[in-house]
Amino acid sequence: MSSQEIPEEENLPSAQEPGHGGAVERADDPFADPGLPAHQPRIQDIDERAAKRSERVVAFLFLLSMLATVAFIASFVAFPVDKIVYIWPLGHISILNFSLGVTLGVALFCIGAGAVHWARTLMSDVEMTDERHPIAATPEVKAKVLADFAAGASESGFGRRKLIRNTMFGALAFVPLSGVVLLRDLGPLPEKKLRSTLWAKGKQLINMNTLEPLRPEDVVVGSLTFAMPEGLEEDSEEFQVEIAKAALMIVRIQPDDIKDKRELDWSHQGIVAFSKICTHVGCPISLYEQQTHHVLCPCHQSTFDLSDGARVLFGPAGHALPQLRIGVNGEGNLEALGDFEEPVGPAFWERG
Ligand code: FES
Repeated sequence: MSSQEIPEEENLPSAQEPGHGGAVERADDPFADPGLPAHQPRIQDIDERAAKRSERVVAFLFLLSMLATVAFIASFVAFPVDKIVYIWPLGHISILNFSLGVTLGVALFCIGAGAVHWARTLMSDVEMTDERHPIAATPEVKAKVLADFAAGASESGFGRRKLIRNTMFGALAFVPLSGVVLLRDLGPLPEKKLRSTLWAKGKQLINMNTLEPLRPEDVVVGSLTFAMPEGLEEDSEEFQVEIAKAALMIVRIQPDDIKDKRELDWSHQGIVAFSKICTHVGCPISLYEQQTHHVLCPCHQSTFDLSDGARVLFGPAGHALPQLRIGVNGEGNLEALGDFEEPVGPAFWERG
């Protein structure tokens, strides 16, 4: 009988012939399949007490994983970020980083070790062979696959060994908690800090190039000047945080060319001051086209019209650049007449 004449299900391995020690011999095959060595039952297969011991070892590893995750969270809460200790042979290291690394490592290792020990000692280690057969499965084949799957699940003891199953679920459920607590590293909430800047009534505008107070005559038509509030030192700790909110662009526009009435009211003889921080995602704007009074953000090309309330002409920015109301003090220097009336920077914060 040719192989085509053999019913498909007959090509499947018999459930009673799992292949232990049974070489498949073919007279016409010079490279005979040596088969598999005879199956050697493990101690756990024949001694229920040994199986119970293995079960307890696996459960212990999963429990250890859970404890390590709890220790990870406790370390995260207990150790300050900047606490340095000496640990041989690592030297001086952050106790927080060390404890997080060790506890997370133990938690993941114990899950892996528990799963491997379970598979090696308690799950069935009977070798199965399956002959190749046509890809499209017959209903009989499908039924057999399902039966094999059910048998495999039963042999793994997943349903029967509730201690292992439950501790494994517990360990897997605990491990993601390590990631949740790391959210604390996103830092404290900004609260109202992004809603105000260092600008206040009477603060002089300081030229960021010369570090001198700006005078109206320093600002000529066609120039672009950057300014910061007086009192902010470039080498101070808070400089980067404050300048990221307070940086100003100063331009002079012929008053007749200013289309927006509020912009004109908030200017001084055509000198206008706008936030330098793009309202898209906060890049500093620096490209000024003096004839059109357009400024361009180099990051994603948002374009603002400084002669028309800095409204958005093009690009992803969501709203106009905030304007700072300015005037001149008794010494003839430009000064702010208050803070910005809206949050500077990305439009997101307006909705917060
Ligand atoms: S940050 Fe300015 S356009 Fe994106």
